[in-house]
Amino acid sequence: MAFLIDGKKISAEIKDELKEKVAALNAEGKYPCLAVILVGNDPASQVYVNNKKKACAYIGIKSLSYELSEDVSEEELLNLVRELNDNPECNGILVQLPLPKHIDEQKVIKTISPDKDVDGFHPESVGRLSIGTRGFKSCTPAGIIELLKRSNIETDGKECVIIGRSNIVGKPMGMLMLRENSTVTICHSHTANLKEVCKRADILIVAIGKREMIDESYVKPGATVIDVGMHRKEDGHLCGDVLFESVCKVAGAITPVPGGVGPMTIAMLMNNIVGAFYED
Ligand code: GUN
Repeated sequence: MAFLIDGKKISAEIKDELKEKVAALNAEGKYPCLAVILVGNDPASQVYVNNKKKACAYIGIKSLSYELSEDVSEEELLNLVRELNDNPECNGILVQLPLPKHIDEQKVIKTISPDKDVDGFHPESVGRLSIGTRGFKSCTPAGIIELLKRSNIETDGKECVIIGRSNIVGKPMGMLMLRENSTVTICHSHTANLKEVCKRADILIVAIGKREMIDESYVKPGATVIDVGMHRKEDGHLCGDVLFESVCKVAGAITPVPGGVGPMTIAMLMNNIVGAFYED
């Protein structure tokens, strides 16, 4: 049975560390503050946004909440972002995605000041991540790096295979694993011989968005398997892109769903907001 990488515990540790950092900042008269913008009534987005606001409250980060109706114009949303860019009270801006179809998501992301882009989605943040200079890192990949480090999983010189090439997970994950000196392969829907490629991995990161697709036949014995997927089954239970019961028999370490990668995304968002006040 594989070692279980406990994202719930690790994210709780990170949040407690951040709570102490915020208390120290407050003592210097500095007050981290996140502006959260939610457009429309998508129930999943409402849950995510509420969880982000709750995490802010726990750590002592102030949050400003903006709930806009589904039919808000693109220009109104852009104006709110511009206003928050100029508001010295707020040091992080998060626009919950997805946005309604009539709004150009990339245009909104580009309007957020790179200095307040705590999601790490702005092209400037992506560029800084690629060349390895200081900037905001996309939260889910940054959370996975933290899971590996805090679980003492070696990355240096290891084969890392990532399945999925999204802008939010796959691509930034590749950049971060390169920074950790792994040899990186990014697979996607056109990859030939996916199974053979995956079997090379010492670290297999799965972000395909297909329920329980990866079973033990994709996994080298002893490999670390990180599951970024999140799906709800017919019986109401949550599961990932990895068939847990199968893979946990051969993997050396594995993240569960729920309680693996999921809680780390919010912890790293909080880390980005607080980290903006520190030099290193
Ligand atoms: N929608 C799903 N995940 C995310 C995220 O990490 N940030 C934002 N802004 N929207 C999302």
